[in-house]
Amino acid sequence: MVITKSPEYFFECIGCSRVFKEARIYSCPDCGDLLQIRYELGSAKDEFQCSLHQGGGLSVWRYRALLPISSRHVVTIGEGGTGLPRSEQLSQELNLSELYFKNEGQNPTGSFKDRGMTVAITRAVEIGAKSVLCASTGNTSASMAAYAAKAGMKAIVLIPKGKIAKGKLLQASVHGANIVEVKGDFDRALETAKRMAEKRRDLYLVNSINPYRIEGQKTTAFEMWEQLERRVPDYVFVPVGNAGNISAIWKGFKELRELELTERLPKMIGVQASGAAPLANAFMRKMEKVSPWLHPETVASAIRIGAPASWKKAFAAVRESTGTMLKVSDKEITHAQNLLAKREGIFAEPASAASLAGVYKARGSQLITNDRCIVCIITGHGLKDQEAAGSAR
Ligand code: F0G
Repeated sequence: MVITKSPEYFFECIGCSRVFKEARIYSCPDCGDLLQIRYELGSAKDEFQCSLHQGGGLSVWRYRALLPISSRHVVTIGEGGTGLPRSEQLSQELNLSELYFKNEGQNPTGSFKDRGMTVAITRAVEIGAKSVLCASTGNTSASMAAYAAKAGMKAIVLIPKGKIAKGKLLQASVHGANIVEVKGDFDRALETAKRMAEKRRDLYLVNSINPYRIEGQKTTAFEMWEQLERRVPDYVFVPVGNAGNISAIWKGFKELRELELTERLPKMIGVQASGAAPLANAFMRKMEKVSPWLHPETVASAIRIGAPASWKKAFAAVRESTGTMLKVSDKEITHAQNLLAKREGIFAEPASAASLAGVYKARGSQLITNDRCIVCIITGHGLKDQEAAGSAR
C-alpha cells in the first residue's frame, strides 16, 4: 500500500514531559516512565480532513495523516474497518436507547491488536529490524506473528507457560513464530522480553509499551466517530489488561477534539476481571499508584495481568474523561459472553465480553442513565479460546 506524507511528530515522556525527536527506547531515561507520540496537529489537520472524504471504506490507514510512518509502503493485511452493530435485544433488556458493539474480532487475526501491529511492524521495517519480539497472553503473539510473516521477519513470542488459549498459540505457530514458554505469568514474560530487547539491539519489541502500537489502536476511536455519523459516544466500555488499548482509544478521541472535529468526549470505563484487577482496585481506593498483583486469576486469560505496564496512561484516560474503572466476576464475564452470542450473534472471547459485563454492572448501580449512547469494545473473537467457550454454553 502506498502512503503519501507523514505528519511531524515527536516523543514525549508521560511522566516528566521530556521530549525526544527520535526514540528506539520505550521508557524515559530520566524518570523511567513510558513515552507517547505527539503531533504538530496544525499541519496534519487539513490532510486528516481530506482523508475523511476519500472512498474505500474504513481502515487503519485511512487515518495515515495522523500515523507516525514516513515510508511509502506499509505492512497491511486489511486491519480496521470493523463493524459497529447496534444492539436490539440486549439494549431492550437493559432499557438503553443506544448500545453498540465495536466488533474487533473482525480484524485479520481476530483481535484489536492488528490495528497496532500494522503500524509497529511497518515501523520495524522502516528502521531495518529483522526480528520482532513480544510477550503475550495470546492475541499479541498471534497478531505479531502474522504481520512479521507478511513482512518477512523473524518473530519471537514469549508466553506464560500453560496459560494462553490454544487457538492463539496455534495462530502464532502457523504463522511461523518462534514460541518461548516462560515459567510464571504474563508479567514475568514481559519483564523478560524487555530485558532481551535492552540487551539485543537486533530485537524490536512490539508490546504496547511501544508507542507505535498505541497509534494504530487509537484509530478505533476515529472509526467509532465516523460510524456514529461524526458523534462520539457518551460512554466507551473497554476490557483492560495491560492497559494499552484504553489509553489508545482515549488518545484517539482527544486528537479528534484537538482537530476541532468534536467538542465532546466520551467517558472511558475500564473493565477488569475481579481476579486480575490491580487497576480497578487502585482506582476505587483513590490510590495514586497501582500495586502489582502477584497471582492474577480469571477465565479471561487475555487480561490475566497483575502489573499493567500502561497503568499511568489508563489512569489518565479514566480520570481526564471523568469515567471510572469496574470489576466483573468470571461468572459475570461468562454470562455476558453467552448473551453476546445468543442475543447479538457475536462470538467473543471472555476478555472481550468483560465490556458488556461492565455495562450490566453499571446499569445495576445506576452509573449510566437509559438515554446515553454506549459502545462496548469487543476486543477479540471467541473461536480463539474454545476451552473457555465450552463453559459459556
Ligand atoms: N481483550 C483482549 C482479547 C486482549 O487480548 C487484551 C490484551 C485485552 C482485552 C486488554 O488490552 O492489554 O491493551 O489493556 N491482550 C494482550 C496480549 C495483553 O498479549 O494479547 P490491554
